[in-house]
Parts: sequence; structure tokens; C-alpha cells
Amino acid sequence: MRLENKVAIITGGANGIGKAIAATYAKNGAKVSLADFNEEALQQTVTEFQAQGFEAFGVKVNVASEEDIQRMVDDTVAHFGQVDILVNCAGVLDYMQAAHNVDDAIWSRVMDINVGGVMRGSRKILPVFTAQGSGVIINLASITGITGGRGGLTYTAAKHAVAGMTKNIASTYGEQGVRCNAIAPAQVDTGLTQSIEGYDMFGLKQATRGVSLMNRSASPEEIANIALFLASDESSYINGVVLAADAGWSAY
Ligand SMILES: NC(=O)c1ccc[n+]([C@@H]2O[C@H](COP(=O)([O-])OP(=O)(O)OC[C@H]3O[C@@H](n4cnc5c(N)ncnc54)[C@H](O)[C@@H]3O)[C@@H](O)[C@H]2O)c1
Repeated sequence: MRLENKVAIITGGANGIGKAIAATYAKNGAKVSLADFNEEALQQTVTEFQAQGFEAFGVKVNVASEEDIQRMVDDTVAHFGQVDILVNCAGVLDYMQAAHNVDDAIWSRVMDINVGGVMRGSRKILPVFTAQGSGVIINLASITGITGGRGGLTYTAAKHAVAGMTKNIASTYGEQGVRCNAIAPAQVDTGLTQSIEGYDMFGLKQATRGVSLMNRSASPEEIANIALFLASDESSYINGVVLAADAGWSAY
């Protein structure tokens, strides 16, 4: 019960890593607000969680919409009375488009969701956290936010932006009791990376040249355990880190 009496909002909480984080938090005593734009998966996950006795609440949210972000926080506060943790997990891929193949629509979508979503969620929650003198933000970056050659141009730029926002927020609001850290996984077994339909095959080939050096992929639960540590007081002295979770892949 490492998160007893805490309330957490998890964007992208209906599937994959976000769902695993929400389940891990709930098992540790947190009340969880799942924010996702896939309405069917959201309803299914909330029902599944409630059947397990978790205190779970669902909000249909597109993190690219300012109005939705406002509603996500306001509805969570109205439902649970407080918010202590925000996990910015919702994210999409860029089909591994190499720089010379970047499609403007994909650039805008990935930037709006992966970068804009983190900014909007943080902008809305920070006044809540500074008013209460405590709060934790956890961002899902990626190993592409630390390295240069393991993703498409847009996704790499977006995750570097997430890493930068993480450090900026930690540095700006740390003295007001806010911690902001990021997790940078390599490959995690979720629906996100199951298909290569529509991929830029040149970008994919270049970005996966070093995959043979990766020991293995991660389970969503292994990433959720890191998010649990970063949300709990056990990590009280950690602020502004972008933590590689890749079994040593990027250390080579
Ligand atoms: N799976 C991996 O290998 C991997 C590796 C590194 C980083 N990540 C990052 O982890 C995060 C989660 O990825 P995942 O693998 O769990 O993906 P996933 O596709 O399994 O789940 C993502 C969830 O986010 C939701 N979502 C997407 N766009 C949204 C939006 N605009 N508004 C609200 N919800 C939205 C989806 O509906 C889905 O439920 C992403 O930010 C991703 O970039 C994933």
C-alpha cells in the first residue's frame, strides 16, 4: 500500500503501459482516474478494475484538446476530491518516418499528442500541486528521447521534448514540492508496436539496425513498477531524471 489515500490521473490508461500503471497504483491503494480517447477500451478497463475492487473512474479525453484536459482534472477532483499524481502516458507513433519522408499530418498529430498533451496536462495540474505543496508528474518518454537513431524523426523530436519538459518542470517547481520525472523505455510489449503497417520501410530499417543488441523487450508491468517507485515517497529525492528502462541497451 505504497500509494494509500493518493489519487492518480493516468492518460492513456485504457491500454498498454498506462493500464498496467493504473492497476499497479490501484493495488497499492491509489484511486485511479483513467483518461483515454478510446471509449470502448476505457469502459472495458474501468469495468475490469471495478470488478477487482479498485476505485477507478473513467474520463474520455483527447490529450490534444485543451477543453478535454480541463475536464479530465476538474471531473477527477469532483469525483475523488483531490489529485496527487499525474502520469502523462498517452502517446502515438510516427510510423518510423525518416527525416526526408516526414508527413506534415503525422508531424502535427504526434506533436499535438506526445508533446502538447504533456504540456497541457502539466499546465493544468501544476496550480493544483503548488497550491497543496505536493504532487508528482511522471512522463512517458522513450529511449528515443535519450538517443538519436532508434525511432522516426518526429517521434524522436517529440520524446526529446518530453525529456526537456520533465527537467524544466522539475527545476521550476521543485522548491514548491512538485517532482517531475520521466521513464524512457525501449521496446515494451503492448499494442503500440504490434504492426508495421504503413511504416516508412527505410526509416524502420535504419532505426532497427541495433535491435539485435537489445537483450529483450519489457512487460508493461516492469515499466509500471518504475512508475510506482517514482510516484511514491520512496523516490522523494529524485526530481528531473529521465530514466532509461532498456535492460542496458542504450548503455552499449
Ligand atoms: N510500447 C513501447 O514499446 C513504448 C516504448 C517507449 C515509450 N512508449 C510510450 O509509452 C506510452 C504508452 O504506450 P503504450 O505502448 O502503452 O501504447 P498503447 O497504444 O498500448 O496505449 C496507449 C493508450 O493511449 C491512448 N491514447 C493515444 N492517443 C491519445 C490521445 N490523444 N488522448 C487520449 N488517449 C490517447 C490510446 O487510446 C491507448 O489506450 C506512449 O507515450 C509511448 O510513446 C512506449
